Parts: sequence; C-alpha cells; structure tokens
Amino acid sequence: MDFNIAVIPGDGIGPEIVAEAQKVLDTVGKKFGHSFSYTEVDMGGVSIDKHGVPLTDEALATAKASDAVLLGAVGGVVGKDSWYDLPPHLRPEAGLLAIRKGLGLFANLRPAYLYKELKGACPLKESVADAGFDMIIVRELTGGLYFGERKTEEVNGVMTAIDTLKYDENEIRRIAIKAFEIAMKRRKSVISVDKSNVLDSSRLWDKVVTEVAKDYPEVTLTHMLVDNCAMQLVKDPAQFDVVVTENMFGDILSDEASMVTGSIGMLSSASLAEGKFGLYEPSHGAAPDIAGQNKANPIATILSAAMMLRYSFDLDEEAKAVEDAVQKVLEDGIRTIDIMSDGMQMVGCKEMGDCICERI
Ligand code: NAD
Ligand code: IPM
Ligand code: MN
Repeated sequence: MDFNIAVIPGDGIGPEIVAEAQKVLDTVGKKFGHSFSYTEVDMGGVSIDKHGVPLTDEALATAKASDAVLLGAVGGVVGKDSWYDLPPHLRPEAGLLAIRKGLGLFANLRPAYLYKELKGACPLKESVADAGFDMIIVRELTGGLYFGERKTEEVNGVMTAIDTLKYDENEIRRIAIKAFEIAMKRRKSVISVDKSNVLDSSRLWDKVVTEVAKDYPEVTLTHMLVDNCAMQLVKDPAQFDVVVTENMFGDILSDEASMVTGSIGMLSSASLAEGKFGLYEPSHGAAPDIAGQNKANPIATILSAAMMLRYSFDLDEEAKAVEDAVQKVLEDGIRTIDIMSDGMQMVGCKEMGDCICERI
C-alpha cells in the first residue's frame, strides 16, 4: 500500500529524530512491501523565520490532505529563544496548538512503559522499578486552558492576566469513551484525574466520566485528584493502567510518567482525530540543549511512527516489527546517553536509528 505522510521536522532536535523515524518507516516499507511518501511541512520557529507565522494555511492544508502526520518538536530555549518577545499566538508552540485544533486531534495517547532492560535508568527505588510500569495517559488535547479565552490587560492600574479553563460535556464524553475503549483492550482500569474538590470544570468532568463508565461495566473506574496522582506516580506507578485527564494535567503528568520509564526520550504519543487520522510525535520538546549534537534519543519518535502504522494505517504486524526491534536494541545493550548505564554501549541518535532498522 502507498501512504502519504506529512513530515514536520520542526526545531531543535526535531529534524534529527524525525530523520530516524523516516528511516525506520522506509525499512518497514521495504520489508513488508509498502511505500511511504513524505511531504515536508514547516511549523514552529522554522516557519516563523521563513514565513512570519508558526503555521501557514498552506502547511495546515498539506497536513490535512495527508494520510497521517509525523512531527519532531517545536520551540527554542525556554525563556531565551529568539521568538521570546512575540505574542503567545505567534510563538512556535502556537503552531502546534493550531495544528492540533485544525486537525481535530482531541485524543492524545501517551503510553509509558518501563522496559525491564531500563530498570537501571528508572530513578525510583529498585522495588518500585521491579513491580513494573505499563500505563497509558489519555489526554484531552483540544480544550481546557490551552484553548480558553485569554488576555492580559491593565485593571485599575494593575497588570492582570486571565486564562480560562472551559470544557463542555461533549468534549469530556468523547475523550472518556476513548479511554474506556482503550481500557477494554488492556487491564480494564480507568483512573480519571481531575481537581473536582476545587474546579467546576473538574466536577463536570467527574460527572460525565461516571456516566460513560456505565456503558463499560467490566472496567473499574477510580477518581483521583491530580495532586495525589502526581504523588502516586512516583510512589506506586504499577497501580496505573489507563489515566484519562484534561489537557494541562495530562501534559504535566505525562512528563512525570516518562521519567519512570527512564527518560522522556522514550515516551511516544499519538494525537488522534475521530476516525483514523492522527499526528504522531514524541511527548518531549525540541531539547535545544542537545540539538545538532547527535545525542537525542530517537526511540520516542520511532515508537510514535509505530503508533502511526497501527492506528492510522491498520498495519499491526508492521507496528509490532518496529516495537520488537526497539525491544531487541535494548536487550542488546545499545543506549543513547539519556538511558545509558554501566556496561552498556553508548551510541548517538543516528546510530540508534540504524541499530533499530537492522533489527526490523
Ligand atoms: P524538552 O522536552 O525539550 O527538554 C527537557 C529535557 O529533556 C532537556 O534536558 C532535553 O535535553 C531532554 N530531552 C528531551 N527530549 C530528549 C530526547 N529525545 N533525548 C534525550 N534527551 C531529551 O523540554 P523543555 O526544555 O521544557 O522545552 C524546550 C522547548 O521545546 C520549548 O520551547 C518548549 O516549548 C518546546 N516543547 C515542544 C514540544 C513539542 O513540540 N511537542 C513539547 C515540549 C516542549
Ligand atoms: C507537549 C508540549 C506542548 C503541550 C507545548 C509545546 C505546547 O509540552 O506536547 O507535551 O503543552 O501540549
Ligand atoms: Mn509537554
């Protein structure tokens, strides 16, 4: 089969990690008889520098016309990049929000799995790492604080900034359904994370998720407050199967969960619309501190490409081949610097990509 993929390398390490994911896709294509064609799209800082905006209408249209999108990352050094003085809607990250909204990508799946080979890279005590960790965060991606009304203005002579956290019941219902459907294929547990002891939006969240749960009697639903969840993730991560939560809580908790797996360089993600369309990107950012040094771990992006094969193209066997190759590379002791430990062989980003391709 032929697939047309819009590729957005973006900024920082984006081009390096995306190149490795494309190499992996090409290897899969050769082995299984598929062809992947790529259309490169600018987004983020690179688009601001070239076109004056973080995402042009043409770029969004190209992404829309593709079968799926592969993204590296966007952005620069936090607080110091050359786009710092731009208003929020013109910054690199605004491109990412615009493409998520523009493509209707409401469901962000972030699977966090601790490979037994990486127990040494997990910063938690040995007994916690030994208990294992295999969860998926189902993060709402097109609502909440990220997309609510916001403004900065002077009120009675005092500079005041407002961000609005808004959800309607339909937005909550569709992400809850997604979470329960995923749970049915896993260990049948959903933990819904919110702040319903304080926020109206969380009280509605709680109510709608509880209603949806009635259609999934086999699945156990637990409600957990977000502050407790942040604590439980490092105390007893094995208790988590599926976590469903709103946009910003999901952003924060997924970075925390990533570290339980050894490194944020391991955390893949799929951002899905209704139907088969999706955008696939690592959960981490542009890592400007290591950009251009062949040091980035490309595994998160490569595993995201595997999710593309599975969710958008229905190529389960091909996705499994990529996941098995990642497993094999770790068994063989090959590590990038972020997951390095004693006695292992350290490689760069490009070499890690090559080693995974060799094992497909
Ligand atoms: P970051 O994820 O880019 O980096 C945090 C730390 O993790 C850094 O030390 C970095 O070197 C390390 N790291 C990240 N990915 C890695 C990888 N694949 N291999 C090895 N180490 C890795 O987060 P940040 O520093 O907060 O943000 C940097 C920029 O990226 C900001 O402009 C931010 O807005 C942007 N960002 C973009 C995305 C995205 O495009 N999806 C996500 C998060 C942050
Ligand atoms: C992520 C990132 C983005 C987010 C930023 C860059 C807008 O942190 O994908 O996790 O907060 O969603
Ligand atoms: Mn994030």
